[in-house]
Amino acid sequence: MAQAPQKLKVGLMLPATGTFAALGTAIENGFRLHLAEQGGKLGGREVEFFKVDDESDPSKAIDNVNKLIKRDNVDVLIGSVHSGVAMAMARVAKGTGTLMINPNGGADAVTGSMCAVNIFRSSFSNWQPGFAIGQAMAAKGHKTAATITWKYAAGDEMAKGFKEGFEKSGGKVTKELTLPFPNVEFQSLLTEIASAKPDAVFSFFAGGGAVKFVKDYDGAGLKKNIPLFGTGFLTDGTLEAQGASAEGVLTSLHYADNLNTPRDNAFRLAYAKTFKMQPDVYAVQGYDAAQMLGIGLTAVKGDAKNTAGFAAALTKATIDSPRGKFTISKAHNPIQDMYLRQVSGKENKVIGVASKALEDPATGCRI
Ligand code: BEZ
Repeated sequence: MAQAPQKLKVGLMLPATGTFAALGTAIENGFRLHLAEQGGKLGGREVEFFKVDDESDPSKAIDNVNKLIKRDNVDVLIGSVHSGVAMAMARVAKGTGTLMINPNGGADAVTGSMCAVNIFRSSFSNWQPGFAIGQAMAAKGHKTAATITWKYAAGDEMAKGFKEGFEKSGGKVTKELTLPFPNVEFQSLLTEIASAKPDAVFSFFAGGGAVKFVKDYDGAGLKKNIPLFGTGFLTDGTLEAQGASAEGVLTSLHYADNLNTPRDNAFRLAYAKTFKMQPDVYAVQGYDAAQMLGIGLTAVKGDAKNTAGFAAALTKATIDSPRGKFTISKAHNPIQDMYLRQVSGKENKVIGVASKALEDPATGCRI
């Protein structure tokens, strides 16, 4: 009698507390939704979850990922949200050969200098949405910009991508402001922006921090004179809480709320029915992490240790995502459209494509 294959042990390393807690929930929801649509199996194996709350704290990340690998013996790591945590996970995944799919953390190095046969992303590199919105801001005729972000890999790299896109298109970044993650004391920096008087502002914040920043920017009276731009994390999953302060904000991201394709409409309906809330980009990235895991594992008949076979299958695949179809680069990062979106009411509405089939340069990747 043939034995049923062993359960696939999936380690979810996501934030359950702190400013990114809601992002972690959306990723897990998306993952579980795809799994349920597949009858609870990926690559022919039933799934068993092991979870740690990584608290978006890079200093605890190595210990946390080792709990999943050494204590729980997981076959695959799914995580994380914060770039610093994602880099620590990638370091351990690379050292142990454990399959890893990163459903958010944008650190460029994960699919750049740290790239590996067993490490994949269902999300983006920090450079991608930053570069796209830089080009889009210049195309709107703005000549000078200030940037404001948290001081860690995601903020630094999105601002760098923005600057590259903006300055290559003829703009000039005249002020670069940061504050430590996850601080939300924005007032003194907003005063600096008011006196610098740039044509426009670029910002990266996400989760609870993005809610406060967008409200404070409006409250300081800046929004009507200095238009606010950002990577789409600034307004994704946050619009209920930001209210009218977010109206008109322009962002770039690989997802939007009104794509109105049959694929996305079906996803949004299923998500809303299951979780009694609207999906956002994080839910899509979780859903696609599960899709990618299923595609790769099916190709290697459920053998999560066959990372070379898994990679060969994924780099040939087209992922039928709610965001639109995308492919996976040689460095294992999505090659995808970056939409230009504008907040209207409670939606991030797509108003164009800021950058078509944008591929991260994957600097330093040798696979
Ligand atoms: C990051 O740390 O990479 C990140 C966190 C939240 C949203 C987007 C990126």
